[in-house]
Amino acid sequence: MSDPTEISEEAVSAAVTAALTAISAAADSAALRVVRTEHVGDASPMARLGGLMRTVPNDQKAAAGKLVGQAKGRVSQALAAREAEIGEAEARARLAAETVDVTAAASTWRPGARHPLSLLQERVADVFVGMGWEVAEGPELEGEWFNFDALNFDEDHPARAMQDTFFVDPPEAHLVLRTHTSPVQMRALLSRELPVYVVSPGRVFRTDELDATHTPVFHQIEGIAVDKGLTMAHLRGTLDHFVKAMFGPEAKVRLRPNYFPFTEPSAELDLWHPTFKDGARWIEWGGCGMVNANVLRSAGIDPEVYSGFAFGVGVERALMFRNDVKDMHDMVEGDVRFSQQYGMSV
Ligand code: PHE
Repeated sequence: MSDPTEISEEAVSAAVTAALTAISAAADSAALRVVRTEHVGDASPMARLGGLMRTVPNDQKAAAGKLVGQAKGRVSQALAAREAEIGEAEARARLAAETVDVTAAASTWRPGARHPLSLLQERVADVFVGMGWEVAEGPELEGEWFNFDALNFDEDHPARAMQDTFFVDPPEAHLVLRTHTSPVQMRALLSRELPVYVVSPGRVFRTDELDATHTPVFHQIEGIAVDKGLTMAHLRGTLDHFVKAMFGPEAKVRLRPNYFPFTEPSAELDLWHPTFKDGARWIEWGGCGMVNANVLRSAGIDPEVYSGFAFGVGVERALMFRNDVKDMHDMVEGDVRFSQQYGMSV
């Protein structure tokens, strides 16, 4: 585009035509910014026409000024109109690009959740680790000797049948799915130097049908301590601290005489709490007692020198009375919505 050298109708209209053509050809706001600089900016023909006003003889200044002023007005009007048009189109395009389709299928990936039974077992382990105890694991497929004989169950002791055992083929292998976590008592004693302070959460099995209050696979937490001079008072004190750490300072423990072949004396372990869902009451939670001298002997420990205590509690039961879970099915069905209610802690 040649620069005008004088203010003439031709020069002005050439500048206007060039500007209007460029304006309508600008496709987006970036292009329009370039057009603005080129056609109305300081170095544009339009600006130059304005500058030429100095050279116009006085008697023609008014006419020339009008010509140039009108031209500038038309161009800036056209610019403003195109600017608005492009701005609107660009806003529409942006909205279209950023549209969220609320009818689209939701992602089927959901974050999972730890099972409350696992969380509870970890919590128990933490409480005992805090008292300096060790955490141990035992096999779920267990030798009959560990599950029964070493725990002072006679060959034909009714408890062997009473515990609804899953015996595993072939019979001569003498394997069972452990009916309780107590075989870990013997394993802990055989694999460690004395004194022993071990807690062991784990899965146990009995031939129960699944219903609201029974499941053939459930969890227990076993504890065993063997040291010099341990008494029933140490058992009580430990359990007391345990339930208060788990359930709060108001929780209480009660021991009622009972029988287990591997402890003597033995007791039923009851737990009381003022805010259990069905009100303050005693709930049977597990068994405990002083480790039977025969069990110590089976582990090669002199019962004249050492004594010990042991306990076992049910994890599902704890979840039932603590969190008001009424039906075992909820714990075993694996619906993640059940676990999610517990968040990351129980
Ligand atoms: N193992 C016993 C049961 O499953 C509970 C128990 C553990 C009792 C430790 C005494 C000592 O019923």
